[in-house]
Amino acid sequence: MKNVLVTGGAGFIGSNFVHYLLRTEKDIKLVNLDALTYAGNLESLADVADDPRYHFVQGNICDSETVDRVLREHQIDSIVHFAAESHVDRSILGPRQFVETNVMGTFTMLESARNYWIRDKALPLQNVRFHHVSTDEVFGSLAPNEPAWTEETPYAPNSPYAASKAASDHLVRSYGHTYGLPYTITNCSNNYGPYQFPEKLIPLIILNAVEGKPLPVYGDGQQIRDWLHVEDHCEAIHLVLRKGKTGETYNIGGENQPANLTIVETICDILDEINANSSNKPHRSLIQFVKDRPGHDRRYDMDTHKISSELGWSPRHTLTQGLLDTVQWYLSHLEWVSSIQQRQEYKGWLEANYKAR
Ligand code: NAD
Ligand code: DAU
Repeated sequence: MKNVLVTGGAGFIGSNFVHYLLRTEKDIKLVNLDALTYAGNLESLADVADDPRYHFVQGNICDSETVDRVLREHQIDSIVHFAAESHVDRSILGPRQFVETNVMGTFTMLESARNYWIRDKALPLQNVRFHHVSTDEVFGSLAPNEPAWTEETPYAPNSPYAASKAASDHLVRSYGHTYGLPYTITNCSNNYGPYQFPEKLIPLIILNAVEGKPLPVYGDGQQIRDWLHVEDHCEAIHLVLRKGKTGETYNIGGENQPANLTIVETICDILDEINANSSNKPHRSLIQFVKDRPGHDRRYDMDTHKISSELGWSPRHTLTQGLLDTVQWYLSHLEWVSSIQQRQEYKGWLEANYKAR
């Protein structure tokens, strides 16, 4: 792993991964290819912008000329593919962009990698890797007593987002099987932590609570997600890049499965405690049950036995400590938040998603 291309490095997990990799791998070149959509934010990477090992390219993963050029110019041997449309609610209101970015974008990345590594034999195949970052949502939804998902569980995606990610996973697998492209895939659960875009559940609840705004809980709030701290996710991806077997997929999860309402109440209690003089106390009084997400998956749970037994990975963060750290991170990065909140696109999104609920 010498010359690494990270796609979507200006987003939530991508920017955490860029920080993580530059901290842990001293002798790499890291190229970040990002289109800077509404979810991309170079302020998340301001502290590494001048690092001589880091290069930013603004470009679209659907643009094969740009992807081809980046691979050749930087002699890329490892691709870590994060770039995607990532928010389920947005996929419900506007699915087309999800098919374009997640399916066609991944297809374009795969074609460019195949041309450069396999057709042109630019680098020895044993030295290259296409790592695709995917989601637990491809597996659908679990009934209360069903066992956690393993890497063998059949795909059953329910939202346009999940379906587009499932399609991209299948494309990656097919390039391995048909053309011999060396790949790995990780399917991981809901991430939380620094630099998460403010429209996702945990930052939205923290920020609304601080401002004394309603805390929207979809449906009865008893949906269960598996919460993973983003640092643990970065560590797992790094390990898969270093030690994972090509052609394999690995589940990653946080070993935490609280109901959404519990997450929201815990954030309220943390704020009550660290913000003792707040006029919004008790923050739980701000909770509002709103109309459910259409097709809302009920329960997710990842079986992470494979990555823990084969590669020795397990999450380090407890949810209690991780949530406390995340609340404190947002409270100390209100400028980062407000630069997003002021954007017209963001205001429009809040209006579109919540007004009719
Ligand atoms: P995000 O929405 O925060 O960031 C996505 C990034 O991709 C942004 O920087 C955006 O500008 C960029 N991007 C979007 N379209 C692009 C395009 N056409 N060309 C180039 N760049 C483009 O997403 P995230 O939450 O960081 O998720 C990253 C990846 O991890 C996604 O593939 C997502 O499906 C997957 N994932 C996320 C989670 C989660 O909880 N956030 C969990 C499992 C899997
Ligand atoms: O499971 C992994 C997935 O987690 C990733 O693949 C996605 O990229 C990532 O965005 C996340 O999925 P969602 O898009 O569903 O995350 P979100 O934070 O929107 O929602 C988490 C849960 O909280 C979900 O059950 C819906 C609920 N929710 C969300 C919002 C925004 C609410 O109850 N109220 C809200 O206002």
